[in-house]
Amino acid sequence: MELLSGDTVVNRNKSANMLRSRFYVCPICGNVVHSAGEAVVSCCGVTLPALEAEEADGDHRPDVETVEDEEFITVDHSMTKAHYISFIACVTSDRLQLVKLYPEGNAQCRLRLQRGGYLYLYCNRHGLMRRRL
Ligand SMILES: [Fe+2]
Repeated sequence: MELLSGDTVVNRNKSANMLRSRFYVCPICGNVVHSAGEAVVSCCGVTLPALEAEEADGDHRPDVETVEDEEFITVDHSMTKAHYISFIACVTSDRLQLVKLYPEGNAQCRLRLQRGGYLYLYCNRHGLMRRRL
């Protein structure tokens, strides 16, 4: 794919700092792929662009509540097959925690959040959002 497109993809994140993580979602099968740095990723015969995270807005703003030694994350968002939160992830410099969510389920999960990281969520219609922790 890289050869065909003529674009050179170089991973500049050799130390694999997870804060530079990239997420890819296949528009055909919904596959979720994570990479610590630049990569050429393809699925179902399609080259997947790295998702660009936007600042979490209105319906995509996660609510974080501490419960015991973890955080309970909820998102007040539709969870129908046509429009739902597909995953919630926490990324720090050395760790990725990812919880896959499904339509008709609840847009919530429990994670151990760490300061200095990012809380990501992915909406199948509106894309990837994140919030600094
Ligand atoms: Fe959405």
